[in-house]
Amino acid sequence: MSSADGLERAARPGRTRGIGVELWERATADRSRAGPTLSRGLREARALHSVERRTVQEVIFGLIRTERGLRALVGDDPLDVWLGQLVLSGLDPSVATEERPGPWASLCERFEALPTALRHSVPDALAERLEAQLGGEEAEAFWQASDRRAPMVLRAHLRRAGTRQRLEERLRQEGIETTPVGARGLRVEGRANVEGSRAYRDGWFEVQDEGSQRLVDLVGDGGGTVLDLCAGAGGKALALADRGHRVVATDVRPRALAELEQRAKRGGVRIETLLLPDDAVPATLARRRFDVVLVDAPCTGTGVLRRNPADRWRWSPERTSELAALQGTLLERGASLVGPGGRLVYATCSVDRAEDEDVVQAFVDAHPGWEVAQSVRTWPQRDGTDGFYACVLTASTSR
Ligand SMILES: C[S@@+](CC[C@H](N)C(=O)[O-])C[C@H]1O[C@@H](n2cnc3c(N)ncnc32)[C@H](O)[C@@H]1O
Repeated sequence: MSSADGLERAARPGRTRGIGVELWERATADRSRAGPTLSRGLREARALHSVERRTVQEVIFGLIRTERGLRALVGDDPLDVWLGQLVLSGLDPSVATEERPGPWASLCERFEALPTALRHSVPDALAERLEAQLGGEEAEAFWQASDRRAPMVLRAHLRRAGTRQRLEERLRQEGIETTPVGARGLRVEGRANVEGSRAYRDGWFEVQDEGSQRLVDLVGDGGGTVLDLCAGAGGKALALADRGHRVVATDVRPRALAELEQRAKRGGVRIETLLLPDDAVPATLARRRFDVVLVDAPCTGTGVLRRNPADRWRWSPERTSELAALQGTLLERGASLVGPGGRLVYATCSVDRAEDEDVVQAFVDAHPGWEVAQSVRTWPQRDGTDGFYACVLTASTSR
């Protein structure tokens, strides 16, 4: 978090506080669009120097993780909530008191005593679900890990870089220090504008969390055909192509597929793309069969709250059920495209069984012949990675 000076500047009347509080009000006025509102607001806050902008960003990203608890203790006034976040971040409570009367001196202590859902600013029902699934202690560790900033992890794109070590050395020459993680990953030490590097422009790496890279490890090295049914902008499709698979990438979002094509060009890999309608497999695809079909399904994103903290605002039991139904449909669609002896890989970045094991179990129950061959989970509190679930399914030939 910012220095004592930065915190004090953010607490006093002035640009940092004025722009920060206003941006917070705007983001919370329409929570479904909070992510884009914040990114745009920060980019466009030209009156702020870079240090001030960083402070505003840190306070707001902290606030997303503490808002419910702060409101319970200091009320709904945005300035009080703002000052409360500064106090939780280390601002001397007497500075806050000079600005507004409030319970600042005992705030940290009282905040720590709040129930989990308030302390981590998540819906009660989500906190309860996770506690039921993980137990109280582990759930608390999960929420604490989800409140921390995620590390920046790169995936060495060997088609361009040759080896991970060459990438590591090249980045060092560009002033970016990294540490190897997993099979092809490099964790960036400190802050760095990695996408501004020459190595990035030359396609030597992609930004990809270690958990996501492990999912690609699960598919392994290739030569076969892979359908990435929910490819998005292609994080996994690119990694699979770099491992020698012939990849077909499909999605319902044309802009995501256009971005994937750009990235594939930069990385020197060929990926066939196909835009899907929401509700069916087009005939041109339905005729084909693949060695591996990856269903990296849309989900609530509870495993990646450390990267997308505002996703907690979109979570609800109803949305979870709707997504679980879509996940089941996509799994069935994917299964129909697996060739003889092939594998169906289901994945989400949710840690909720309702979107993971339960979806797979319902599929297996409804489709005799398919069985779970392998499944993995990664956790922020155990592995330091995003929370991922992945499951490899295989079918007996009689299906
Ligand atoms: C978890 S994201 C995929 C991330 C991507 N695989 C990656 O590694 O970067 C889920 C994707 O599913 C897509 N999606 C949503 N509904 C779909 C559908 N009916 N058919 C195919 N893809 C769909 C979304 O557009 C989104 O890009």
